[in-house]
Amino acid sequence: MEGQRNSEWFKTFPDDHWLFSEEKAVADGTAAAEHLITHPGMKVFDCPCGDARVSIHLAKKGAIVTGLDLNPRFIKMAKERFAEAGLDGNFYVGDMRNASFPGGCDLFFSWANSFGFFSDEENRLFMQRMADCIRPGGRLVIDNPNLWVVQGPPEPPEENKAIRGNIPYFRYEYDYETKCIQAYEDGKWVFSERMYDIKEYEEMFLNCGLELVEAYSEYFTPYDEKKRRMILIAEKK
Ligand SMILES: C[S@@+](CC[C@H](N)C(=O)[O-])C[C@H]1O[C@@H](n2cnc3c(N)ncnc32)[C@H](O)[C@@H]1O
Repeated sequence: MEGQRNSEWFKTFPDDHWLFSEEKAVADGTAAAEHLITHPGMKVFDCPCGDARVSIHLAKKGAIVTGLDLNPRFIKMAKERFAEAGLDGNFYVGDMRNASFPGGCDLFFSWANSFGFFSDEENRLFMQRMADCIRPGGRLVIDNPNLWVVQGPPEPPEENKAIRGNIPYFRYEYDYETKCIQAYEDGKWVFSERMYDIKEYEEMFLNCGLELVEAYSEYFTPYDEKKRRMILIAEKK
């Protein structure tokens, strides 16, 4: 498999491959709103927000949503989506590596595979940036795939270090040494994503003044490492 690898791949990734279906967004968004929005007026920072197809359900439950995304087309769609629903929302174009939230948000919402795009060092810096955007006592929620789903058992099979599989649009290879997936479309390299397990998240949280307080699988069902999703909630001390 071939193709030039580019660490800034997310700047040219095709729009139509980024977002889950509207149907899935309704299921995810209503479950997230039910679990995470405890009172009207909660300040939610959806970062990166895509076209806000998930966080609009948090707004419907009374959250005040601010969204940031690199893609101007998604930001325009997010603004239109909120306007059509008669909801207030504040959306802007930006790189999440430079995100800020003056005064601190109540909930930093990192939904749908949105953590792990960068190098290990940059991912850690971004974790600190997320923490800096949250008020003391506020929370971070990360929804990412469970490592087991792409990797299989934690130890590599002896004779074969690479694991191969399929995800929508892509064929991927998981490498046990770098803990990254490399994804290919029609044989051409498209992106790389670092896959963290729950222990690594816990350690990164602690280093950034956050503490893991709850862990779930899809739709906030009890956490099971063999289920598809990992939803982690960390609290800022
Ligand atoms: C998998 S989508 C998830 C979007 C949204 N959280 C949702 O649940 O629909 C990831 C998003 O990250 C955005 N993105 C990628 N790199 C980014 C960056 N460096 N800064 C800000 N947004 C970025 C993409 O434009 C895309 O909308």
